[in-house]
Amino acid sequence: MSRAHRYDVVVVGAGGAGLMAARYAAQQPGVSVAVISKLYPTRSHTGAAQGGVGAALGNVSEDHAEWHAFDTIKGGDYLTDQDAAEMFAHDVIDAVYELEHMGLPFSRLPNGKIAQRKFGGHTRDFGKSAVERACYAADRTGHMILQTLYQQSIKDNVTFFNEFHVLDLVMVGGECRGVVAYELATGELHTFQAKATIIAAGGNGRIFKVTSNAHTLTGDLMSIAYRRGIPIEDPEFYQIHPTGLYKLGVLLTEGARGEGAILRNADGERFMERYAPTIKDLAPRDLVSRAMYLEIREGRGCGPNKDYLHLDLTHIDAHIIEERLPDITEFSRIYLAVDPVKELVPIQPTAHYAMGGIPTNIDTEVISDGANTVVPGLYAAGEVACVSIHGANRLGTNSLGDLIVFGRRAGMFAARYAAEASFGNVPRDVLDYSRSLIDKVKSGPGREKVAKLRQELQETMQDNASVFRTEESLSRQVAILKELKGRYGQVGLEDQGERFNTELIEALELGFLLDNAEQLVHAALNRQESRGAHSREDFPERDDQNWLKHTLIYQDGDGVRIGYKPVNIGKYEPKPRVY
Ligand code: FUM
Repeated sequence: MSRAHRYDVVVVGAGGAGLMAARYAAQQPGVSVAVISKLYPTRSHTGAAQGGVGAALGNVSEDHAEWHAFDTIKGGDYLTDQDAAEMFAHDVIDAVYELEHMGLPFSRLPNGKIAQRKFGGHTRDFGKSAVERACYAADRTGHMILQTLYQQSIKDNVTFFNEFHVLDLVMVGGECRGVVAYELATGELHTFQAKATIIAAGGNGRIFKVTSNAHTLTGDLMSIAYRRGIPIEDPEFYQIHPTGLYKLGVLLTEGARGEGAILRNADGERFMERYAPTIKDLAPRDLVSRAMYLEIREGRGCGPNKDYLHLDLTHIDAHIIEERLPDITEFSRIYLAVDPVKELVPIQPTAHYAMGGIPTNIDTEVISDGANTVVPGLYAAGEVACVSIHGANRLGTNSLGDLIVFGRRAGMFAARYAAEASFGNVPRDVLDYSRSLIDKVKSGPGREKVAKLRQELQETMQDNASVFRTEESLSRQVAILKELKGRYGQVGLEDQGERFNTELIEALELGFLLDNAEQLVHAALNRQESRGAHSREDFPERDDQNWLKHTLIYQDGDGVRIGYKPVNIGKYEPKPRVY
């Protein structure tokens, strides 16, 4: 069974970027907008973002968009496209006020202004000291953004298709004409014909074992675009957030360190003083996560296995912890039976965010090569996209900023495009690829189990391709992925039903995860330098001479092909990063 729909603009994903895009598109007179989401919208992963959205409002101390832009570029280890970062740092100020006017319940200062706190890598006057730039709603900032935007989208008459899994892009002659999606409740395939399609489907953290990402973050659209000939930009740069709850990976916001929390090793030492003497615990995430791995590797980890570190909040006023960090306090009490008000919290780095993604220009149009050739009718925003403001390492709070700034632009530009365009034909065989994907796993021999392959994928990615990498570990992982892909062809399903077949969804998601892992590992093996979150022990230095360029990785038969794209350097010449 199949059904067909037609909307001027179709948005894939209902997190912050998708909802912001949908709102802006829907406000264009006469433009019909549908959002297709694998989840009920308010369950999207934006809701898990905690600490804040960075914008130079200057409510607590002097701040400027220019300082924010510089911090973003330096934080990204100069792989950031500077035109995008400059535009972003200016636009995010207005976007935050827009959220405030939509009714978002920000925490407040005594004078009624939006409260702001310190965060990693955010500095005053080009690196002199930490600055309060993160606008927050306790430690539920993403949750509040999601709820606010969903309410507004309903008001704007956006149509939602929830629990629909996109399986394919409708590409005709290099142009995007919509998507094909699988309806979980019925097992039907649906064609969504669109003049403009916006991909805002989030990240892929589930390629790793310990991650802050929800089970649904399986990089579906990064894989689908890749299978349709669109490259992925800079997938080797994957952010490992320093503070996940020990063994669980659940995020414990950097906002805690913004409020004064300190990282300590087994000797009780504030070890970040040795790694980043100026901003210490508030150094960017790549630096802090590396420092934590080194502390553990050198035997200064805590516990019987010396495999974790501590986050110390015990010196912070109890009422500040309860008022500004209520969720993480609760998580720590519930999951670890540790009370952060009185005890040290066991933490370890956790896979958190893809800096790379589907390449776009500053107007969120998807591009297909190093010459910035636009794919007509296709837009991307949020974590799934790479514009690239985050370069080799994203600063905390810039993800929520990215969602609202680039979500807004995607909605605006896609609606403008749709207003001028007409619906192109959709081929008769548009469903064939999606049907074959489903049939293949449903009728597979069942010699392999999805859960087992996924576990092997996550564990080996954690061992061979996370914070530290070498040619040896990455080559090992290339071979493992090849073997896992072969074994993936042997899976089969016990559930042959049509309704709510979550076994089928997990099998399809595993296929997407394998593609995402392949992109990351091949790009990491190829890049013979260390930069931002990509740390090659066999090439420990940053090498601007040879590697100040973006990776573009393409699927090529059973293998990959690698190309490059220049970095847009503006007024900040690359310098060594010192914090
Ligand atoms: O630590 C955090 O609250 C995470 C924020 C982010 O990833 O931007």
